[in-house]
Amino acid sequence: MTAELLRAEGLTKAYGPTPALNGAALAVRAGEVVAVMGPSGSGKSTLLHCLAGIVRPDAGTVTYDGRELTGLPDAERSALRRGDFGFVFQFGRLVPELTCVENVALPLRLNGRRRKAAEGAALEWLERLEAEDVAGKRPGEISGGQGQRVAVARALVTAPRVVFADEPTGALDSLNGERVMRLLTDAARDTRAAVVLVTHEARVAAYSDRELVVRDGTVRDMVGAL
Ligand SMILES: Nc1ncnc2c1ncn2[C@@H]1O[C@H](COP(=O)(O)OP(=O)(O)OP(=O)(O)O)[C@@H](O)[C@H]1O
Ligand SMILES: [Mg+2]
Repeated sequence: MTAELLRAEGLTKAYGPTPALNGAALAVRAGEVVAVMGPSGSGKSTLLHCLAGIVRPDAGTVTYDGRELTGLPDAERSALRRGDFGFVFQFGRLVPELTCVENVALPLRLNGRRRKAAEGAALEWLERLEAEDVAGKRPGEISGGQGQRVAVARALVTAPRVVFADEPTGALDSLNGERVMRLLTDAARDTRAAVVLVTHEARVAAYSDRELVVRDGTVRDMVGAL
C-alpha cells in the first residue's frame, strides 16, 4: 500500500448564507486516481479548491505530505501549489492572449524557467496530449477538446505530485471526453501523480481507482452512497 499523500478532515465552507462544505473528509494516496462525483451544487469544486489550497476553508484541515496546508502563510501555500500541484479548472481558463505553447509553458515560467527551456518542455507535453498541432494558436482559435488537452498539458508540465481536475471532460462529446481521460490518466500513471477528478459522468469515473460521492457538503464512498 502506498503512502498517504493528501488528507482533508472536517472541511466546512460557506459562501455567506450558502453552505458549500459541511464536514467533508477524504484521503488520497500517492499515485492514486480518485473520482469525485455528486449533484450540481453539492460542493465538488469547493472541495477541490480547498484541497489545492486555492480556497481557505472556514474550519477543518488539509494535510499534504505531512504539512498542514490550511495553516501555512499565503506565500508558502502558493509556492507549494506551484511546485507540487497541477490544476485543470472547470471552465478551461487558458490565458486568451497567449498561444497554446505559451499557456502550457506558463507554470514553468512562473517557477523561473527560461523561455526556451519552458517552451521546449511545453511542446513535449502538447505532443503527448496529441495537441502539438495547436501549439502556435490562441485559445480562441481551437476546439473545446483541443483546449482541454492543452489545459491537461499545462497541469502536468511541472511534474506535479497531485493533479486536480474539475470536470475536464464536461464540455466534450463522449469520444473526446474518453480521449482526454485516457491521456490524463496514462500521463498521471507514468509520472506517478495522484489525480483528484471531479466528474458527473460514470463513464469518466470508470478511469479512476476509487469513486467518492459528495452530497450536501460531505464525502462518502460510492458503495456507502448507493
Ligand atoms: N464564489 C461563490 N460565491 C457564492 N456561492 C458559491 C460560490 N462558489 C460556490 N458557491 C455555492 O456553494 C455551493 C457549492 O458549489 P460548488 O461550486 O462547490 O458545487 P459543485 O458541486 O462544483 O457544482 P457543479 O457540479 O455545478 O460544478 C453551491 O450552492 C454554490 O452556489
Ligand atoms: Mg463545480
